[in-house]
Amino acid sequence: MERLIIEGGVRLEGTVDISGAKNAALPIMAASILAPGVNRIHNVPSLRDITTMGRLLTHLGIDFMHDNGTVVLDSDNLQTVEAPYELVKTMRASVLVLGPLLARMGRARVSLPGGCAIGARPIDLHIMGLQKMGAEIELSEGYINARAERLRGATIYLDIPTVTGTENLMMAATLAEGVTIIENAACEPEVQDLANALVSMGARIEGAGTSIIRINGVDSLNPLDYRVIPDRIEAGTFIAAAGITGGEVEIRGCRVDHLESVIAKLREAGIHIEHKPGRLKVKGPERLNAVDVRTMPYPGFPTDMQAQFMALMAVSDGTSLITEGIFENRFMHVAEMRRLGADIIVEGATATVRGVRMLKGAPVMATDLRASASLVLAGLVAEGRTVIDRLYHIDRGYERIEEKLRGLGARVRRER
Ligand code: UD1
Repeated sequence: MERLIIEGGVRLEGTVDISGAKNAALPIMAASILAPGVNRIHNVPSLRDITTMGRLLTHLGIDFMHDNGTVVLDSDNLQTVEAPYELVKTMRASVLVLGPLLARMGRARVSLPGGCAIGARPIDLHIMGLQKMGAEIELSEGYINARAERLRGATIYLDIPTVTGTENLMMAATLAEGVTIIENAACEPEVQDLANALVSMGARIEGAGTSIIRINGVDSLNPLDYRVIPDRIEAGTFIAAAGITGGEVEIRGCRVDHLESVIAKLREAGIHIEHKPGRLKVKGPERLNAVDVRTMPYPGFPTDMQAQFMALMAVSDGTSLITEGIFENRFMHVAEMRRLGADIIVEGATATVRGVRMLKGAPVMATDLRASASLVLAGLVAEGRTVIDRLYHIDRGYERIEEKLRGLGARVRRER
């Protein structure tokens, strides 16, 4: 199994380019199901999750190619409507094919994702929304079997502003008969990016990026040619990396407007961040300040930055309270960070982090995608050697991470 070996204590310096957003690319790839023809998506990062979605689309009969940042999907010959367990279990976002399959083919059979390391993560709201649009849905043998001659527009209120749920329903509604209104929709930039991609295919969507999205169904859509937004979580992680090492890094190709809550919190922690068009100049302090944070739906502080923020707080001056407001079990990195000498106690949804002067390198294990990023940050500042096992988690969401870090001077290598 691959491991990442970090010799800590280097101040990062230089320039790093941000890749395309995985969480925007995945639903946009699923949107290729909606229109027969050759779909092109640009700025798609080379990541395990993208390969998994490619395999799933290939399984459905779509030709998939990923070369030099561009994904080409030929969806002329859809052959099956089944997303099998073997693929869905490795990536929950596979459920994003449910809405588009049902809308284009009138049928879908998608495995239930099952449990997940960071909480139960049900998909009841995806199902409820599709039922409101007239789908007949039956759960059997671990599969969602959905059927609808043609979906009908409906008003759907989401109890929780689920990101992939909003995306699934928005895609389904593009080909439905009549108007669909999604209330309490997720406002994440990735939802907005998907809406922009769908509009470029001929969909009629208003309000994406706000909590009320209105979709006027159309009879058919054209194939895609679209460039995905930069990854705000990767950008946030590199700001944190500069901050935690007291370094000086320029972050290129990011969307500052998607990073406002992250920038606000990292500034409070003492990191100096200067805006320039399309890039940020970041300078870490001698010692970070302890700051409390609570994760929330966008535009609140993202849950996908919680673990990385905790690494910063682990070496800050004071005590910080970190509250997880989205997922019930997203503190798996705490036990690993403690192995590096962090002083963290978890009670319910809140972690109390007492900053220590110094972390010390140790062998640790990545438990999920963002947890692994937090261990990389901790390893960059820890004294001595940190070895991160189960590296495949990080390869799901960070493109060429060790190469990018090495470009900033970090002593990092991958061992196979
Ligand atoms: C997406 C992101 C993930 C991010 C998360 C929250 C993708 C591919 N993944 O995941 O990186 O951490 O948003 O920003 O974009 N819920 C229900 N019922 C549902 C759906 C969700 O109760 O039908 C709950 C979940 O258990 C969770 C909360 O809603 O507590 C938010 O989850 P959701 O927004 O759906 O996360 P994902 O879309 O899976």
